[in-house]
Amino acid sequence: MKNIDFGFVADIYDDYVNVDFDIPFYQSICKGYRGNVLELMCGTGRVSLPLIENGINLTCVDYSQEMLDVFSKKLNGKTPLLICQDICELDIDNKFEFVFIPFNSFSEITDSKKRKIAVKKITEHLVDGGDFLITLYNPEYRKLAADGNLKCLGKYDISNDRTLIVTYYNSFDSTSNLVSGTQFYEIYDRKNKLIDKRFLNIAFSLISHDEIDELCNEFNLAVKGIFGDYHFGNFSDNSQFMNYLLTKRVIV
Ligand SMILES: C[S@@+](CC[C@H](N)C(=O)[O-])C[C@H]1O[C@@H](n2cnc3c(N)ncnc32)[C@H](O)[C@@H]1O
Repeated sequence: MKNIDFGFVADIYDDYVNVDFDIPFYQSICKGYRGNVLELMCGTGRVSLPLIENGINLTCVDYSQEMLDVFSKKLNGKTPLLICQDICELDIDNKFEFVFIPFNSFSEITDSKKRKIAVKKITEHLVDGGDFLITLYNPEYRKLAADGNLKCLGKYDISNDRTLIVTYYNSFDSTSNLVSGTQFYEIYDRKNKLIDKRFLNIAFSLISHDEIDELCNEFNLAVKGIFGDYHFGNFSDNSQFMNYLLTKRVIV
């Protein structure tokens, strides 16, 4: 069973996730790799499409066929490989120079044993000396925002003269290290009459430095850098993000 089933909102995902603050970061990193690049948990291709346009040889994986269907309609004849697979069961007949998980999505695997399995699979798909980028929230920063209050993510003009309003709340549980809550989606017609209402339960883990260190030790990865933002700034305790660039050690 999927933790968060984005398939329920695949048709409107691009309307409310219309951010691009992180794209130049991935574009810049990807320039350093000449070989194959693997993007995991790619969704509707928000990050993938600008990279494909830059000529990156990208393979994209997501376990929601609905999200991949939206992605595929935006391809306009370009042909990256889109694979519908759970990354805990990653099985691709290729090895990659660079693997990355954008938008803090690794945290959506809320069982630490499953995260371990996913990292094992990922390292099996990396060439020796290949790099792996995991984008995460800084737990100390993110838990402050999980205050249980209802908030508005935004109001968006969408196709056919409709308006989408997204609200949400989430709370942090220190025993499980989980942030969980619900997102509500309301769609109104041109006369402001409600025509659709949905909700999606959200849960993600706040992953610690200690867990990443353990994963590195177990799977022969080394830390190349920890960025606290999407501009290659060094991580500090006050950073919003905790983006780990890891490398697969070469065994001699
Ligand atoms: C928040 S969306 C991010 C999508 C996209 N990367 C972006 O930046 O807009 C998270 C995506 O991860 C996918 N996902 C979650 N768990 C997964 C798993 N175990 N294996 C593969 N995909 C997964 C979801 O289906 C969803 O499309």
